[in-house]
Amino acid sequence: NEGSLWGGRFASGPSPELAKLSKSTHFDWQLAPYDIAGSRAHARALHAAGYLSAAELEAMIDGLNRLEADVESGEVVAAETDEDVHGALEAALIEIVGPELGGKLRAGRSRNDQIATLVRMYLRDHAAAIATELVHLIDALAAQAEAHGDAIMPGRTHLQHAQPVLLAHHLLAHAWALTRDLDRLVDWDGRADVSPYGSGALAGSTLGLDAASVAQDLGLAGISENSIDGTASRDVVAEFAFIAAMIGIDLSRLSEEIILWNTREFGFVTLDDGYSTGSSIMPQKKNPDIAELARGKSGRLIGNLTGLLATLKALPLAYNRDLQEDKEPVFDSVETLEVLLPAFTGMVATLRFDTARMAELAPQGFSLATDVAEWLVKRHVPFRDAHEITGALVRYAEEHGLDLHEVPDDALAGISPHLVPEVREVLTIEGSVASRDGVAGTAPSSVAKQFTALTERVRTL
Ligand code: ARG
Repeated sequence: NEGSLWGGRFASGPSPELAKLSKSTHFDWQLAPYDIAGSRAHARALHAAGYLSAAELEAMIDGLNRLEADVESGEVVAAETDEDVHGALEAALIEIVGPELGGKLRAGRSRNDQIATLVRMYLRDHAAAIATELVHLIDALAAQAEAHGDAIMPGRTHLQHAQPVLLAHHLLAHAWALTRDLDRLVDWDGRADVSPYGSGALAGSTLGLDAASVAQDLGLAGISENSIDGTASRDVVAEFAFIAAMIGIDLSRLSEEIILWNTREFGFVTLDDGYSTGSSIMPQKKNPDIAELARGKSGRLIGNLTGLLATLKALPLAYNRDLQEDKEPVFDSVETLEVLLPAFTGMVATLRFDTARMAELAPQGFSLATDVAEWLVKRHVPFRDAHEITGALVRYAEEHGLDLHEVPDDALAGISPHLVPEVREVLTIEGSVASRDGVAGTAPSSVAKQFTALTERVRTL
């Protein structure tokens, strides 16, 4: 009958086309060390529940240790016929310990709870590595800020000159954003630090295995409280992909500035030869490729996130094979950041700033106008009037081709009796930044406090 026909087809094994489609060993093989760690923990749980004798446990652990060494040395690799890392490692274990013992390990677990656990273990390790790289980058920004304590640059809004700021203040703004990314990784880890092992295929196990001891063995603080959620959820993976994308975006925003600063028109920075590239035809070129690659790769990191979210959308509970598609994007995000961050940090650490050029441009575009208005407010002129008076001053200066501080005394007085010559005290970029000494402001005294707060924040993360 038809049923047996179908049964006959199943007995034949997967078609080559299905096998090719289904295969994941080319990317999930990197989970092998975690898979083997999971197997060791699972073997101990089977022993504790009476399914493996002490001798069997010992032989199993020995076999798994050898398997681990063989995987590490490259002696054991996934075979062409293996579908995924779990199946490949089970087959290799059976080669080592024999089918009798090797065949006992699968009891009470499923590839569904395995993969859900392994991806967390993998991501936690790499999150720690990425966090370390982020700290290096934050340190590099902080070191540049410290090295340029009093340097002043044009602060911008809408990319137009707005108000002068300390270069250190600007660099630390990027450091704070990256510090929040670091904070996100730490916070994320609290949710990732949970083991779905013991959830089985979706409904849990009948064997009375101690999931908490497996979790503890794997260095995971908690266990999934719901086996369906344990096997089917991937929000932890998506959240990681978001943090990776956010890091990419934060790097990209700084990259865009470095690219601009490195143009002849800005002339704010020079890139170190070791962290810039030349042109094959134009001998004079020195290109900011690291910043451009960071900007470009942020698109890729965003793509990994959105692709993963699209995969997860509308997936019914519990496990579906779609979930296999979570790994390549997030592995790519990890690999992208692990290659990008060290190069990026090197570029930042070796940037040379032309502080004279920055200082020269800082007052241009009437960027000290707000200082005049606030100076008037301090002399009890209502801000509305102060804004009007300062606007008239800017118009006068523009019409006469002068900078604000060059407007003569009689012209000042003509604009408003409030504009006495002392106003010029705030018409220097040094005076301007020094006067913004409130909380979070750009005055050297405020930036020094900020620097201490940042260092403290990073240290406690
Ligand atoms: N390779 C699968 C994944 O990455 C895990 C195996 C579960 N497969 C299955 N047919 N239940 O999600």
